[in-house]
Amino acid sequence: MKILVVGSGGREHALCWAIGGSPLCKKLYCAPGNAGIARDAECVPLAAENIPGLVAFAKEKGIDFVVVGPEAPLVAGLVDRLEEAGIKAFGPSAKAAEIEGSKGFMKDLAKRCKVPTAAYQRCRDAQTARGFVRSYAAQRPGHELVVKADGLAAGKGVVICRTEEEALAAIDAAMVDKRFGASGAEVVIEEFLRGEEVSFFTLCDGTTAIPFGSAQDHKRVGDGDIGPNTGGMGAYSPAPIMTPQLSAQVMSDIVQPTLAGMAELGRPFKGVLFAGLMITDTGPKLIEYNARFGDPECQVLVPRLMSDLLPILIACRDGQLRNVGIRWHDRSALCVVMAGRGYPDEPLRGTVIRGLDQAAALAGVTVFHAGTKAGSDGSILANGGRVLGVTACANSLPAAYSRAYQAVDAIDWPEGIFRNDIGWRAIPNWRALRRPKQ
Ligand code: AMP
Ligand code: GLY
Repeated sequence: MKILVVGSGGREHALCWAIGGSPLCKKLYCAPGNAGIARDAECVPLAAENIPGLVAFAKEKGIDFVVVGPEAPLVAGLVDRLEEAGIKAFGPSAKAAEIEGSKGFMKDLAKRCKVPTAAYQRCRDAQTARGFVRSYAAQRPGHELVVKADGLAAGKGVVICRTEEEALAAIDAAMVDKRFGASGAEVVIEEFLRGEEVSFFTLCDGTTAIPFGSAQDHKRVGDGDIGPNTGGMGAYSPAPIMTPQLSAQVMSDIVQPTLAGMAELGRPFKGVLFAGLMITDTGPKLIEYNARFGDPECQVLVPRLMSDLLPILIACRDGQLRNVGIRWHDRSALCVVMAGRGYPDEPLRGTVIRGLDQAAALAGVTVFHAGTKAGSDGSILANGGRVLGVTACANSLPAAYSRAYQAVDAIDWPEGIFRNDIGWRAIPNWRALRRPKQ
């Protein structure tokens, strides 16, 4: 088969790495890809947002199956346009991807399907939003609120507000200053949930959903969860908090009702349904849905997979998931993201990265590229915020931690930054396993 993967991050590198290794895959393209992906696939200079260009390319090359990585092209209808052109594609339709593309839609769906989630209010104008915040603050003084831009905002549209003033400022930023453009024309204001967060992945074919592993991500840029939010500075899988019992509860109380609700609305969901959960004292609650794999989470799921990923994704597209069994290695994976100094605000680009082959030569290590490009002399240059996902698989999480940081230390890139404490919740003695690089 000829396969096209769409996207250019660490997630897409992990997907290409797995799909390229499938005996079913005879030719692999990635649009637009990056310097690391170029080792596993032929990169084509088409942006993930260039829907007409991608459809024309897929037709011209006779692509048999397209796998879409990021959310923006899904929400914009890439899968719909490909399928209309007779090209099979993995991922939700635009109508189904609204589960990620509109937080208001997602909250209304959760309410309709009786899925446990934070109490919320949708507000379509700033005056209503301010009024809601004031009355909430009067009734429940001292309670935090979360203000969210309704649409996609590259992970930046969510503000956790400790005071009424902070909530009012967040409303102004989204609705008056239009910091997130059209995405902030509506906001969702919701109750703050306390607990431990976990990323829970499922594959859906419209009617059947199967669990596809758990992970925990680290959103803040610095050790100890300090500093600004990022796309994710590292992840590990499985998440020990996600016991088989809890996983079964999430499938029956959250995922299955959602899938049934989407089908009822005439928006059957196919693809990855990624539930961001808060494990609270009163059980798991849904924070949000994503309509795609997480990044960096994908980089710790895929290396644990024993089964061939490609036929699983095809079964998802074909509505055949009930016939699929998935096998996992009994191993843990941990990914340390290396980013350009200055990330997330202004990452330094163009710096040279050395030692990648030495890192990748370590047992169980794969270095996924997220933002790299090849220099004219064949060197690898940083070309983005998040640049590398240094991933190790081992028999235990502590062993994966040690191996991943051994690989990080083998990489010679003085301008790279990373956290030293990836996995801290699950690895109580992580400090003893690592001496931070000076
Ligand atoms: P989202 O884009 O909805 O995933 O939100 C980004 C992050 O904000 C989440 O990963 C959580 O850490 C946090 N968050 C969002 N909603 C809530 C909530 N209701 N209570 C507590 N934390 C939240
Ligand atoms: N790492 C979180 C996400 O992909 O949304």
